[in-house]
Formats: sequence, structure tokens, C-alpha cells
Amino acid sequence: MSLNESNLRQLNQAQRKQVLMQWEHQQHDSFRTDFQITPYGDILEGFFVNKGVWNPAIVTARQHAAYLFYHNNLFMGKDAIDIGCGTGLMGVVMAKYGAQSVVMSDVSTLAVENARQNIRHFGLENIASAVEGDCFGGIEDQADCIIFNQPYFAGDPPEGDTISASMLAPPELIKRFLREAPNYLKPKGTIVMPSFGLAGDPNNPAVVGKDSC
Ligand SMILES: C[S@@+](CC[C@H](N)C(=O)[O-])C[C@H]1O[C@@H](n2cnc3c(N)ncnc32)[C@H](O)[C@@H]1O
Repeated sequence: MSLNESNLRQLNQAQRKQVLMQWEHQQHDSFRTDFQITPYGDILEGFFVNKGVWNPAIVTARQHAAYLFYHNNLFMGKDAIDIGCGTGLMGVVMAKYGAQSVVMSDVSTLAVENARQNIRHFGLENIASAVEGDCFGGIEDQADCIIFNQPYFAGDPPEGDTISASMLAPPELIKRFLREAPNYLKPKGTIVMPSFGLAGDPNNPAVVGKDSC
């Protein structure tokens, strides 16, 4: 499977180069790794990263995980949702470091299985669960904190390519997420959405959000 012109037509040269480079680096087999959240011994030992699931260790997700660790006021003693959970890194960090409950969700079956594996491995079954669904499709309850580390670039991933679908999504997805999120957010809750400046306005939540909320 590979990306072609029709998948990337909304992107400029620099964006295409970035997407193709990341795609190349995400073609891994299943493996386990010790995920270092901080330099001070906060390590997720034996974290599962499966084939076809976005490897957070080689992208900014590792910084977002550290951000959550240091901003635990967002979820400490609270209910959290992790949309587009991939391996479950964000959800695992919230569940392990103080959330009352975490529901992780992803449109990819491989990602949901991977997140469940990590939930079991870290003994978080009483706090965390993973469901399959498109955007909020599998979510039933409201939360105080909703995180979505969304596909950063505007595009149409090839059918069945879960790695491409971790990087590329039609801008409509972010609009839909921002439109639906208030239904799943408790009063005074917080939405956390990382973004990548290189991806430009179409998938920038701060820009898209102006029309969506
Ligand atoms: C950039 S990856 C982030 C994965 C993980 N949260 C992390 O930080 O490592 C984006 C994730 O969003 C998921 N995704 C893409 N489209 C989605 C949709 N419509 N609904 C739910 N999840 C989606 C992908 O399968 C992928 O796991």
C-alpha cells in the first residue's frame, strides 16, 4: 500500500514531504518499548505498539503524553475521553496518573485492540476501557476532559491503510469533532487538541473551531 496523488492533492510540497516521511517511519512490526514520560523515572514499561497502529514514540505524541502528565489538573479525579486513541498512550497516562475513568476510542480495530492490550498490561481495567467508533460514535457518557490527537493533515487516506488514516483526514472530521464535543463535555470541562503548524489552516482546530462551535 502506498500514498498517491489523489490522497495528497490538498497538500503543498512541504506537507507531502512530511507525510511521506512519517508514513515511511511508521511501517513497523508489532513491538514493545519502555515509554519514558519524564526523565525522572516515570516510565511505561513494556508498552505495546502494534503493526498498523501509530507509533507515538517517534512523533510529537510523546510530548503530548508528557504535557498531560505535567497538567494532571485536567484529569485528576475526573472522567476523561481519548478520541483517536491509537495505542492508548494518552488514555493510559491519564488512567495511570489519577483519572477517575477513561474511555478510549478509535475508528481503527487495530488501534482499539492495541489500547485494550495496554489497558490490561498496566492493570487499568477498573478505570479504563477502549471502544471502536467513528469520532464520538462509541462514546456514551460525558467527561471533564476530552483529548483528540487528530490526524494533522487534510487528505483522503487509502482504504484500509490505518497508518495513513492516522495522518490524513478530511477537514470535515475536525469540524464534526468540534460540533459534537460539547454534547460529551461536562460543564467547565476541557478539550485538548494538539496540532501541527505545518499542516496549515484546514486541520488547525483553532481555525476550524471558529466556524464549528
Ligand atoms: C495521530 S494518531 C494519534 C494516536 C494516539 N492518540 C497518539 O497520540 O499516539 C490519530 C488517530 O486517530 C484515529 N482516527 C482517524 N480518524 C478517526 C475517526 N474518524 N474517528 C476516530 N478516530 C480516528 C486514527 O486511527 C489514529 O489512531
